[in-house]
Amino acid sequence: MHHSRLNGLVPCRPKRPLALVPNGLRRASLAGMIALTFTLTAGAPVPAVRITVDTAHPGHAVSPLLHGVFFEDINYGADGGLYAELVQNRSFEHQEHLYAWGTVNRGGQGTVTVESAEPLNAKNPHYVRLNIANPGKGFGVANYGFGGIAMKAGENYLFSVRARSAGGYNGVLRVVIEDETGRPLSDCELTGLSEKWQKFDGVIKSSGSATHARLVVLATAQGRVDLDVVSLFPENTWKHRRNGMRADLVQMLADLHPAFMRFPGGCIVEGMDLPNRYQWKDTIGDVAERLENWNRWQDAMGDATAPQYYQTCGLGFFEFFQLCEDLGAEPVPILNCGMACQYESKQLVPLDQLGPFVQDALDLIEFANGPATSPWGERRAAMGHPEPFRLKMLGVGNEQWGEQYFERYKIFQAALKDKHPEIQLVTGAGPGVDDGFWKLAWDKFMSGTPADIVDEHYYRPPQWFLENATRYDAQERRGPKVFAGEFAAHDGPQHRSTLRAAVAEAAFMTGLLRNSDLVVMSSYAPLFAKAGASQWAPDLIWFDNTRVYGTPSYHVQALYSRNRPDVILPVAIDGPPVTLPALSAASASTYGAPVRPPYRSGPLPTLFVAAGWDRQAGEVVLFVANPYAEARDATIALGGANHAATAGKAIVLASTTPDDVNSFEAPATVAPREETLPVEGPEIFHRFPSSSFTVLRLKMAE
Ligand code: AHR
Repeated sequence: MHHSRLNGLVPCRPKRPLALVPNGLRRASLAGMIALTFTLTAGAPVPAVRITVDTAHPGHAVSPLLHGVFFEDINYGADGGLYAELVQNRSFEHQEHLYAWGTVNRGGQGTVTVESAEPLNAKNPHYVRLNIANPGKGFGVANYGFGGIAMKAGENYLFSVRARSAGGYNGVLRVVIEDETGRPLSDCELTGLSEKWQKFDGVIKSSGSATHARLVVLATAQGRVDLDVVSLFPENTWKHRRNGMRADLVQMLADLHPAFMRFPGGCIVEGMDLPNRYQWKDTIGDVAERLENWNRWQDAMGDATAPQYYQTCGLGFFEFFQLCEDLGAEPVPILNCGMACQYESKQLVPLDQLGPFVQDALDLIEFANGPATSPWGERRAAMGHPEPFRLKMLGVGNEQWGEQYFERYKIFQAALKDKHPEIQLVTGAGPGVDDGFWKLAWDKFMSGTPADIVDEHYYRPPQWFLENATRYDAQERRGPKVFAGEFAAHDGPQHRSTLRAAVAEAAFMTGLLRNSDLVVMSSYAPLFAKAGASQWAPDLIWFDNTRVYGTPSYHVQALYSRNRPDVILPVAIDGPPVTLPALSAASASTYGAPVRPPYRSGPLPTLFVAAGWDRQAGEVVLFVANPYAEARDATIALGGANHAATAGKAIVLASTTPDDVNSFEAPATVAPREETLPVEGPEIFHRFPSSSFTVLRLKMAE
C-alpha cells in the first residue's frame, strides 16, 4: 500500500539515525531503539513502524538445509496414510489376528481360522485358513481397509495375495471389490493354486467409485485355502511406484520443497520398550518378509487409543530413502541408541552390549552409501537402487536425555566417526529447551563432548514462540549447530491449528532464519494426522482416505521454504514495543517439566522481521509476522547505497480472526494470497494485517 493511502496516518520517522544491528545482537539493540510504548487496546490506532533493511551489508549465508520435514508414523501417518496399501492387517499379524477382516458366506458352510503351521516365513508367522465344507455361492473373507477402501471409477488397482490349497481344494478364488451397497466394482478369478505358497497378482479396474468399499476373497469349492499378505494398492501411487505412497500426500510434501526429511521418528524409534523399538533391518526387502511391529502410539495418549495401530513396515527404510531422493531432500534417519522411551519403560541396553546397535548404524550407512557389491549395498541394489543414496547425516537416539544417553552416545559417536567421519551426527538434547536435561546436554557440548548438530524440541503455547524468537541471537557460536527438530505452537487446551499458532511459529522462525549460521535445520512436528485416528495435535497436514488439506502452519512452512534467501540482510525496526501478560512457567514448559530460570519474557517487537537476499532472483525477501490484534503500517527502507526496488509482491497469510482454522470442508480459509506491491521511490509502504504472516519479495534494480 502506498503512503498516500494510509488514511491520514504518517509512518513514524526515527528520532535519531537507525543503528543497523548485526546478527546476534538484535534483542539488546532493538530495546535501545524503541522510543514509544504501546499497549494492546481495542480500537487503538494502527501503530506505525519503520523497517530498514541494509542491502549493502549482507550477513551470513542461510543454511540450505534450514527448512525440512520430520516424518513419524503417528496419527496413522504411515499405514492407513502415506503408505498407499488399502488393506488393513494384510498379514494377519495384528494382536487380534482377524482385525479389519470379516467372514463372508454366500449360502455355504465353513469356518475361518488363524493358523501358524508352515507359515509363509518366520517373520510372518500367521495366516488365515478358509475351511470350506460347502462353498455355496462363495465362502471367504472381506477386508474393510482403514475405515473403508476408497475406489475411483476407471482407475487401476494392483491386487496380490500369497495363497495355497489344502484338503483337496481345486477350485478358483474369486476376488471381488464391492461398494458399500454390495455392488461389485470388479470381479476376477484367481487360478492355479497348489499346495505350495505362491504369490498371485494382477491388475483390477474399478467400474465405480466408493469411499467405503471392501475387498472380498471367496473360495468356490470344498477343501481348505490358506491366505496371507492380501494386498491392494492404487496403481496411481506417487511416481507410479509399486509398494508406493499416496500421490496426493506426497504432493503436499513436495510442495513444501523440503531440504531434508528426518525419519522414522520420534518416539517410535525408542519404542515403549526395547523389543518395540524401530529396527531398520526389519523394514527392507520383500514386504512379505518384513517384521510387523505394534505402533507405540497405540495407547500413548489418554483417550486417543488405537489398540490395532500397527506398523507393517511396508513403508520402510528403502522407501524413505527413495522418497527423499524424489523430493530432493537429504535423508536424516534416526536410530535407536540402546534406550527405550524415557517416559515409558525406560529400558536400557547395558553399555557392554551396545555392539549390535552400533553395528546396525554402521550397516545402515553401508545400506545407503555402500557399493552394490558390499553386503548391505547389495541388498539396496536388489531392491532396485544400485546407486548410493548419498546419506550425509544420522541421528543417534531421538529426544534422549541425561547421563544414560551421553554414556551411550559416546560409544556410538566414537565408532561412527572412526569409520565414517564424513557422516554428520544428530545428537539429542532431551524433550525441552529450558530444563535441566537441556542444560546438561549443552554444558557437555560446550565442554568437549563432540557433537555436530543438536536436535532441540519445543511444543509450547503461541506466546512462548513470540517470546523466544530471539533465543538464538546471543547463543555462542563455538559449539555445535542446532537442529530445531520438532516444534509446534500449541494453541489452547485443544491444540488447534489456528492462524494464531501459525503466526507465532512464523514470528519464531524469523529468529531461525536470522540465526541460520547456527540453526542449520528445522522441522515442524508432527507432520501428518488422519482424521478420526490421531493421537497428537496439532499436526501440519490432515487427511482422510480421499482428501487432504494443509493447516495454517503448513502454509507458514511452505512460505519460508519456498522463499528461502541465500544470505541474511541486517534489519532494524523502529516502532512501539508490545508487552503481553506473563506466560506462566508451567505453560511455558514441555509436558509440564520445570523451566529453568531465567524464563524469557518482556517487551516484544512491534513486528517480527527477518530479511535476506535471493541472488538468483535478484530480490530482497522480507518475512514479517504481525501476531497482534491491530494492523501495522510500515515504511520499508532499503538502506544500501543505490539499492532500490523496481517491483514487488506480497504473499499474505491472514484471515478474519486468529482463531480461524482450515478443514476438509473449507481447506483454504487460511491460505496465502498474492498481491502486487506498488513500488515508487526509495521507500515502500505496506500495511501488515492483524494476525498475519507476510513474505515481501522486492525486485532490485541491477
Ligand atoms: O512429535 C511427537 C513426539 O514428540 C515425538 O515422537 C517425540 O520425539 C516428541 O516427544
